[in-house]
Amino acid sequence: MQDIAEIERELMASVSAAVDLDGLEAARVAALGKKGRLSGMMRGLGQMDPDQRKQVAPALNQLKDTLSEAIEARRAELRRAELEARLAEERVDVSLPVRPEPEGRIHPISQVMDEIAEIFADMGFAIAEGPDIEDDFHNFTALNIPEEHPARQMMDTFYLNEKEDGSRMVLRTHTSPVQIRTMESKKPPHRIVIPGRTFRSDSDQTHTPMFHQVEGLVIDKTTHMGHLKGTLEAFARAFFELDEVRMRFRPSHFPFTEPSAEVDIGCAFDKGQIRIGEGEDWLEILGCGMVHPKVLKAVGLDPDEWQGFAWGMGIDRIAMLKYGIPDLRAFFESDLRWLHHYGFVPLYVPTLGGGLSR
Ligand code: DAH
Repeated sequence: MQDIAEIERELMASVSAAVDLDGLEAARVAALGKKGRLSGMMRGLGQMDPDQRKQVAPALNQLKDTLSEAIEARRAELRRAELEARLAEERVDVSLPVRPEPEGRIHPISQVMDEIAEIFADMGFAIAEGPDIEDDFHNFTALNIPEEHPARQMMDTFYLNEKEDGSRMVLRTHTSPVQIRTMESKKPPHRIVIPGRTFRSDSDQTHTPMFHQVEGLVIDKTTHMGHLKGTLEAFARAFFELDEVRMRFRPSHFPFTEPSAEVDIGCAFDKGQIRIGEGEDWLEILGCGMVHPKVLKAVGLDPDEWQGFAWGMGIDRIAMLKYGIPDLRAFFESDLRWLHHYGFVPLYVPTLGGGLSR
């Protein structure tokens, strides 16, 4: 019989020679498996005479233990190496520059929404959002637009199918219902802006069935019309990136505000182009006013204690104005050439300090 010490040397060598877990498993089976070398020798003990067996058996058992330990140790080593190799391979170098020519573009509407959020966040406003599909109460009734009110027809509402109780959900016709949702769910004071999609059954050169608005709401105990004017003027200067933007507040009517105004900004219409901050012409950009006492009552606020202002502005319109985009419908045609021309470079985040647009 071969010298046990020599067999040990051979088997241990086969363990340390294994370069991966599969190789190690093969070495283990070759030594300790049912048909393995050591197992064969163990079986051979039966044919030995008792004296010889007494000598060889403990040595074989010892060898088996030594070998098992060595296999375990090698397995741990290989596992560690495998993990390290994987970590090295899967590492991402976050300091690598972005590809020089990114193909994607940020849609001008998304860009303008980010700019608006940035400007109002700087003034201390929070962002609020609500569902595109609204119930009648939030879209109309709570905003002081009762059943028979002409504003319901004027808004060209998209209705969903009647529910069992006869009520019908609507695609929200404005972002104003989120005023109601915010006042219902949170305690005043409020200082929020609400960007989002809105829907009306209307389609021509200056109207698309889906469009975007940004709503504003301030509720506290002392806020008045002067604050509304100051807020909107500060917004217009920041948004159009001009030192001075002329603004005109015209008396108007909305069911949910009293008094109400429409706001125009000064501009020049010149050979089919509109330039902000110049000229003698006016362009309407938003509706606003002091929140109507009935709206406050509808959400359980006491109008003798709380007051504030609100406004609603078309995002698509001001995006067209700022970036000289002539046709509203192109916004929603998903034409990649258009997007490449008017879109914004991804990963560029508008900030007041670093510049809103680029
Ligand atoms: N909801 C109005 C619309 O879609 C816009 C509006 C006007 C919103 C006056 C307001 C507001 O919050 O005070 O035409």
